[in-house]
Amino acid sequence: MTEKKNWSPRFESGLHQAIAHFNASISFDIELIEYDLDGSQAHAQMLAHTGIISQAEGEQLVAGLEQIRQEYHQGNFQPGVDAEDVHFAVERRLTEIVGDVGKKLHTARSRNDQVGTDTRLYLRDQIQQIRSQLRKFQTALLDIADQHIETLIPGYTHLQRAQPLSLAHHLLAYYQMAKRDWERLGDVSRRVNISPLGCGALAGTTFPIDRHYTAELLGFENIYANSLDGVSDRDFAIEFLSAASLIMVHLSRLAEEVILWSSQEFGFVTLKDSCATGSSIMPQKKNPDVPELVRGKTGRVFGHLQALLVIMKGLPLAYNKDLQEDKEGLFDSVKTVKASLEAMTILLSEGLEFRTQRLAQAVTEDFSNATDVADYLAARGVPFREAYNLVGKIVKTCIAEGKLLKDLSLEEWEQFHPGFAADIYEAISPRQVVAARNSYGGTGFTQVRKALLIAREQISHNRGV
Ligand code: ARG
Repeated sequence: MTEKKNWSPRFESGLHQAIAHFNASISFDIELIEYDLDGSQAHAQMLAHTGIISQAEGEQLVAGLEQIRQEYHQGNFQPGVDAEDVHFAVERRLTEIVGDVGKKLHTARSRNDQVGTDTRLYLRDQIQQIRSQLRKFQTALLDIADQHIETLIPGYTHLQRAQPLSLAHHLLAYYQMAKRDWERLGDVSRRVNISPLGCGALAGTTFPIDRHYTAELLGFENIYANSLDGVSDRDFAIEFLSAASLIMVHLSRLAEEVILWSSQEFGFVTLKDSCATGSSIMPQKKNPDVPELVRGKTGRVFGHLQALLVIMKGLPLAYNKDLQEDKEGLFDSVKTVKASLEAMTILLSEGLEFRTQRLAQAVTEDFSNATDVADYLAARGVPFREAYNLVGKIVKTCIAEGKLLKDLSLEEWEQFHPGFAADIYEAISPRQVVAARNSYGGTGFTQVRKALLIAREQISHNRGV
């Protein structure tokens, strides 16, 4: 059984049905339809503008394409596998609507420059949406940070208690990651926004086209300088997938922290019912499915990046059908990033309740003020390394005696070193330990307040750095 053929009379029969399915991309590239219609309308206008077709023909084509858009919106345009891909599907339907003039649309164009144009228009649009989602995510982080400038949380290195932090400072670290993501996407966008339309199949065209005209109609900032490069470049998609992978890295790290924080062992945060799930057998369970899913979904975006790199690495110039494989991973990555950003933003803005009592308690029950004891002596002239070694000895003694630094009597302090005085207790209180880290970019409350103000400014002016 064979399918109806799309090709020239050179072909005597259609494709084997299984091969037609194997070859077709319509099931997924229908996602590009709006961009395909935009691109085709611009192309038709250019053909008329340059006199390659008449004005009247150009108008008929544009109107026919607009009708397909309406039909699609109403759910009446659902091309099947016989159309092969969205480009053939549109051209075929156009000819049904406007008659023979529809057959002029593909003058001076190839599906190769067409699909490149569509993919770029799609990605440009999606990048804009993701960037605005990043802004919402950042705002959600700042809103929590505002409430928790003075809430202390243990800070870790090697997942061992290190030094206490302002919770706002911790959250602002994620703000910074998202800021880079936002900037990076802006940068990628510049290389997405270049028009390959008019590169033809690979070598350009014999018609007197005006590539700048279509580029301008479609809002492209520039046009590809080399037709071979224009039809076979997918760097922009790889760059996007790489930027998308980094967004997922950042979301996944935050997700992992929320998962840890919500465990009984940490107990720093309670998940609100609207963002948590239960177990089908263990009635006591409240599970962090949302951050777990975000962490899990990260893998597929990395996978799509890897896949496209591999697809590209051995391709001779110019277009090869391998390039059809760029789409599903790209679409899936866009959907995954958008869904993950949305879920994490909701989780932040209404799903978390920080257990401030427990946090306040947590920062008093460890040796995370030990550096401050060493700093105390170093500020009084003891060489830091010497002070560090002495504090190591003090910590060792405390551990042996089952107490913390704050439990030492003044006498004991003085026995360790005559430089210690009564103000040591204040110096090692968690609040002071945090407040004292007032170096630029540090966790000291004054610094954190400044950082918050700067962040709000950046968002309100829609600025990066
Ligand atoms: N569906 C194809 C793709 O996504 C469109 C371009 C086809 N070009 C070709 N020469 N077969 O890549």
